[in-house]
Amino acid sequence: MTNLLVTGGAGFIGGNFVHYWAQNHPGDTMIVLDCLTYTGNKSTIAGIEQAELVVDDIRHTELVAKLLRERDISTILHFTAESYVDRSITGPDVFIETNILGTNSLLKTARSAWLGAGSGSPH
Ligand SMILES: NC(=O)c1ccc[n+]([C@@H]2O[C@H](COP(=O)([O-])OP(=O)(O)OC[C@H]3O[C@@H](n4cnc5c(N)ncnc54)[C@H](O)[C@@H]3O)[C@@H](O)[C@H]2O)c1
Repeated sequence: MTNLLVTGGAGFIGGNFVHYWAQNHPGDTMIVLDCLTYTGNKSTIAGIEQAELVVDDIRHTELVAKLLRERDISTILHFTAESYVDRSITGPDVFIETNILGTNSLLKTARSAWLGAGSGSPH
């Protein structure tokens, strides 16, 4: 059994991944971390027993570290994004914050949780 963290799993691509993985890997569990912006919708993954939605931001490092540690997460699927190109022109700041700084935050938290503790085998 594998425990996965799926960021942005209430969005389009992440939600499709959650459905696919639940059908093909029924023994696995998924924590879906998604802060439900204008593109996220919890109904995307409603009814999937293996998927638990945690409504929060990927930049919430304490929460992410806690999930990785306490839920024994070994794999992260990172689908979180600001994804609307038109919005990136009218309001680019949130794209930097989410897509670049958020991804960096997630990577650093995973490194700290997995490698800093000297345990786990991320793949
Ligand atoms: N849609 C496509 O056709 C397509 C094709 C290829 C690649 N991609 C890539 O896949 C990724 C996801 O695209 P998508 O179309 O599913 O986008 P989407 O906008 O549908 O989903 C993004 C999800 O991320 C969540 N989110 C945003 N900021 C967050 C934050 N700070 N913390 C937690 N959750 C947050 C949103 O609530 C949403 O559920 C993007 O990197 C995109 O470039 C998309």
